[in-house]
Amino acid sequence: MFSPTVHTRFIALLGNPLGHSISPPMHNRVFEKLGMDYCYLPIEVTAEDLGTIFAAMKKMNFAGCNVTIPHKLAIMAHLDELDDLAETIGAVNTVRFQNGRSKGFNTDGEGFIRSLQEESGITPKGHRFLLFGCGGATRAIAMTLAAHGAERVMLCNRTEAKAEALAEEINRRVRPCAASIACKGKAQLTAAGEADILVNTTSIGMHPNEDVMPFPEACIEARHIVADIVYNPWMTKLLSTAEERGAKAVHGLGMLVWQGAAAFKIFTGREADVAAMKEEVAKLRKG
Ligand code: ATR
Repeated sequence: MFSPTVHTRFIALLGNPLGHSISPPMHNRVFEKLGMDYCYLPIEVTAEDLGTIFAAMKKMNFAGCNVTIPHKLAIMAHLDELDDLAETIGAVNTVRFQNGRSKGFNTDGEGFIRSLQEESGITPKGHRFLLFGCGGATRAIAMTLAAHGAERVMLCNRTEAKAEALAEEINRRVRPCAASIACKGKAQLTAAGEADILVNTTSIGMHPNEDVMPFPEACIEARHIVADIVYNPWMTKLLSTAEERGAKAVHGLGMLVWQGAAAFKIFTGREADVAAMKEEVAKLRKG
């Protein structure tokens, strides 16, 4: 069993609840494999205690932390510095402690882009994306796609006003490449026809409601790449339908691995062993 010493650097995961988080085994596996004296530990924190615990960590032997639901916004009030993209996204999932100061980053969008690139060979530049949903994950992915040169970022959400507001914000703060799309009928089909990549950024299709799709099957053409951020189940109804229609499927677990790999680099300055992370994460695959 791993036995920490006074020299061990710690990385925390701050969130609540954390019972099923894959991040601790995923990072610890890499630390072990690369022989690094680091330890990643989950710490369940209430909103009330977040500031106190974060301030204490800064004074302890922590190299950084990941931040997850429900603290991705609240943590920003406690940081000394904020990376530009994280500021634009308006949420932080990774913090680095260095020389007594804390700096916040957001690696969720980068995780999506690197997973997309690995599984399909596609980079955002010059491509047209249609994103379904408008929550925190959508924000991170859409802003990052815009920052990486996507030709168009179309946003389709049940509550259309949210998609309009996010598109306006992307156009103003990142690049003029975003538009909102009505979430029904012909407008949705036309937008899908104009897109190269369709992305589900909602929780639709997640266990135990596995038999639902975030958008109609008719939107999917064989030339499309269809990506899902849902990773439980690994093969969502959306992705199996996409494959049946001849499209390329990009699975949600890739984003989980690559956002972790990007955070690992921020914490340690070293490249993560992505193959080891994937082996750990593969334990989540339930078909
Ligand atoms: P997160 O911030 O974790 O990404 P969220 O804030 O719950 O998650 O956002 C989920 C997104 O999925 C929202 O855009 C939501 O649509 P609304 O803005 O209309 O609420 C969308 N979503 C969730 N369940 C949905 C459903 N059954 N049908 C359509 N959209 C859904």
